[in-house]
Parts: sequence; structure tokens; C-alpha cells
Amino acid sequence: MRHLMNPLDFTTEELDKLFDLADDIQAHPDKYAHKCEGKKLATCFYEPSTRTRLSFESAMLNLGGHVIGFSDANSSSAAKGESVSDTIRIISCYADICAMRHPKEGAPMVAATKSSIPVINAGDGGHQHPTQTLTDLLTIRSLKGRLNNFTVGLCGDLKFGRTAHSLVNALVRYDHISFIFISPEELKIPSYLRDKLKELNIPFKEVIRLEDSLPELDLLYMTRVQRERFFNEEDYVRLKDFYILNKEKMKLAPEDMLVLHPLPRVNEISVEVDEDPRAVYFKQVQYGVYVRMALILTLLELA
Ligand code: CP
Repeated sequence: MRHLMNPLDFTTEELDKLFDLADDIQAHPDKYAHKCEGKKLATCFYEPSTRTRLSFESAMLNLGGHVIGFSDANSSSAAKGESVSDTIRIISCYADICAMRHPKEGAPMVAATKSSIPVINAGDGGHQHPTQTLTDLLTIRSLKGRLNNFTVGLCGDLKFGRTAHSLVNALVRYDHISFIFISPEELKIPSYLRDKLKELNIPFKEVIRLEDSLPELDLLYMTRVQRERFFNEEDYVRLKDFYILNKEKMKLAPEDMLVLHPLPRVNEISVEVDEDPRAVYFKQVQYGVYVRMALILTLLELA
């Protein structure tokens, strides 16, 4: 039995297979409409979510399966003090697979050690968000036709941004990737990622201004400054509008650059950018359903 905690849990060859399956699901949805009949997905979300929870639920329903779960820790027995380890033992009796989001880093991993069903990390604190990364990679592969040879800019909250951490971890396995990390001083990437890139000889630079980097980028991954990760409201207010991508700034970017964002966005991408063909963050959302369908089938060994 396999779990998914980190994008690196799959080899690049396994990811290719998963993305091929997602492509086939997109092309022939009817072929997959009954694959999960009689199966149940539990969505255990201890933190708010729109996309991840509902795309998992949509994915399971598209496969002919059923969904149970909770979307708020306070409506579960976590509010009475039940541990994640106990909860997953219970969920294992009710469902065939579980997607778990938790504010504490490592909580889904703890659950996986006690689980008798596959557990998917649907985001753990500021640590990892592997299914967002699968979504990002499938989007890039589908729209660019490759996962190598990119200069990738990641912009915004690179300190707490689990989507950014997971994406960097995943992209370093492909050839000729370089990174430009665009963040205020207070929200720089964690040192463990910087050390990893140095160790692997992956070129990267850290800058503050978005405008200076835009002309160099093949992919721009915008992220939200996350109020929920700050201890101090004053710091959040000072940093929340540090970056705003607008039409004027997009003029500096190459014609074929893609703008991705895991969403939700707040102010970091002006709505006027939505009409730009390079803005693909809403397309990303649809790829998220296909890739989660492929993931459920793979972990349930129904692929
Ligand atoms: N991208 C993402 O994780 O969105 P949600 O928080 O809405 O799930």
C-alpha cells in the first residue's frame, strides 16, 4: 500500500505514467466513470480549502465512487481532543482512501503510519502540498509539452508557501531548470531548500524586485502572502501587497511565459491579468481534477 506525502514519493517515470493517465482521463472521461464504484474517499480537512477538497471530491464522484468527510476540525472529534492517529484508525474502517489537510507539518505522515488505507497529504502547514505540485506539473507539461529547460520564477511568500516548496523539490529532478526566487527579505525560501539547490548545483538567485526578473522567465509561479501563517498581524499587513502583477508588468514578460498560481489569490495578481492568454491559473484548477482522478486510481491500484 502506498501513500503520497511528498511529490518525491513518485519517481519521474511514475509521474510520467500518472500524467499519461490524467491525459487519457481528460480525453476519454467515460472510460473511467465507473472505475471506483463501491469505493469511498474520506476528505479529512482540519484547515480551510476550496480547490483541494472539492477537486478530490469531484475526482472521486467522476470515477463513480462516494465521498465522506469533514471540512472543519471543529465539526470533527478533533475538537474533543482526538489525535490524528486515532482518527485515521477510525476512518480506515469507513473509507478506502483518505485525503488529509492539517495545519501541523507532518500530521498526514503520522496518520499514514497508523492507517490501513492510502493517505494523501492534501497540505500540511508550511511544509508540502504534493497534489498541488502534481497539478502544477501536469499544467506545465500539458501547455508547454515538457518539464525540462525552464527558468522558473517563484514570487511571494516563499518562506511559508508549501506549494512553492513542493514545486521546487519536484522540478529539481528535471534537466536544465533554474530558479529565480522573488520575495521580500522576510519571506525568503527556507535554508534547507537553498542548501539542497547548492548541493545539486541547480542555478538559482534570490531577488526582491519582480519587474527585473520578468524578462528572463519561462514560468512565473505567483503565491499569496498567507495571513494564517503569520504570528503578527502587523507583519502581514506590511507584506501582503508587496507584489501585485498587473497588465503593465506583464508587458515586461516574454510572449510565451506562463503565469501559474495555486490559488486562492488575494491582491497579488490583478484581475485585469486574467484575460491575458499567458495567465493559466484557472486552467490549472481543471488539471487538478484530472490528476487527482489519476492519483486515486493509482493508489487504489485500479489504474
Ligand atoms: N491551492 C489550494 O490548495 O487551494 P485550497 O486551499 O482552496 O485547497
